[in-house]
Amino acid sequence: PKEKGWRTPHLFLFQGFWCQPKEIRAIISTQNHFKAQDSDVVLATIPKSGTTWLKALTFAIVNRNKFSVQPDNHHHPLLTHNPHELVPFLEYKLYADCNRLPDLSLLPSPRLVATHVPFGALPSSTKTSKCKIVYICRNPFDTFVSIWHYLNKVRPESLGPLPIEEAFDMYCRGVIGYGPYWDHMLGYWRESLETPNKVLFLKYEDMKVAERNQLKKLGEFLGFPFTEEEEKEGRIQDISSLCSFQNMKDLEVNKKGKGAISGFENKDLFRKAEIGDWMNYFTPSMFERLSNVMEEKLEGSGLKLTAC
Ligand code: A3P
Repeated sequence: PKEKGWRTPHLFLFQGFWCQPKEIRAIISTQNHFKAQDSDVVLATIPKSGTTWLKALTFAIVNRNKFSVQPDNHHHPLLTHNPHELVPFLEYKLYADCNRLPDLSLLPSPRLVATHVPFGALPSSTKTSKCKIVYICRNPFDTFVSIWHYLNKVRPESLGPLPIEEAFDMYCRGVIGYGPYWDHMLGYWRESLETPNKVLFLKYEDMKVAERNQLKKLGEFLGFPFTEEEEKEGRIQDISSLCSFQNMKDLEVNKKGKGAISGFENKDLFRKAEIGDWMNYFTPSMFERLSNVMEEKLEGSGLKLTAC
């Protein structure tokens, strides 16, 4: 099956999810060649659900003994690099070039990598090894608005702007990169219930309102728990400030830099970062349609999402 794409002329249904031909080749290469190690951390997200933030937080947490996260460290790598440069995507970076396999020995330990593919499409070694998988889920209303803004920015001019009504219809039918979104979130949700030591399921909204607890949970899950002393000294707060939306957005590398993701401008990765921005775009009938779809799809799963 083939559908009109958001950013490219077409999206194709591959292994049960939608993606572009170039991505299909890279995903197959990842599935064939990536050998996860027990100490690896795989960050999994659907686009625009908080990937950049999760990358920054995870990098800061696991490397905090190597790179101090205290505000007097003006040389922390996150101050001069976009998080996507520090935590590469499997399918967009490491395995993007199907003719050349990456030299993973160049990745610092523990190896941090990211992916947008659904759980079922992860390379099998991520499941057979003891590597950890962290998923971040964002409410589908704000995720839609974020995707629509972003893809309209990076869409080739020749395709013209994508009207919100058209994008919304595709979204509600599940047609977005790596979607349907409900299948994506449910795949990781179910795994997190079955194997909680293997898959951690975080929510963007929880991270925004109770970041401290979520960061403690993330540190513990990754095997880098915060000591009492670190907590007392404010290390969690330091990480939260270092990776905060405002701090990251204002960095020179993110204001002026390019190419952290496939040739786009880094500034486009930082827009508003609010819970409930969808209310500025949704009509009552859009709200009703997406609410109904989500209710039906998540029914019985135990997964509850907060949209405002
Ligand atoms: P908005 O478009 O709603 O502002 P991704 O990183 O998966 O591409 O997701 C992008 C979304 O996360 C954007 O949402 C962006 O503004 C927000 N974001 C980027 N950096 C963030 C940070 N440090 N903290 C919270 N949200 C962030």
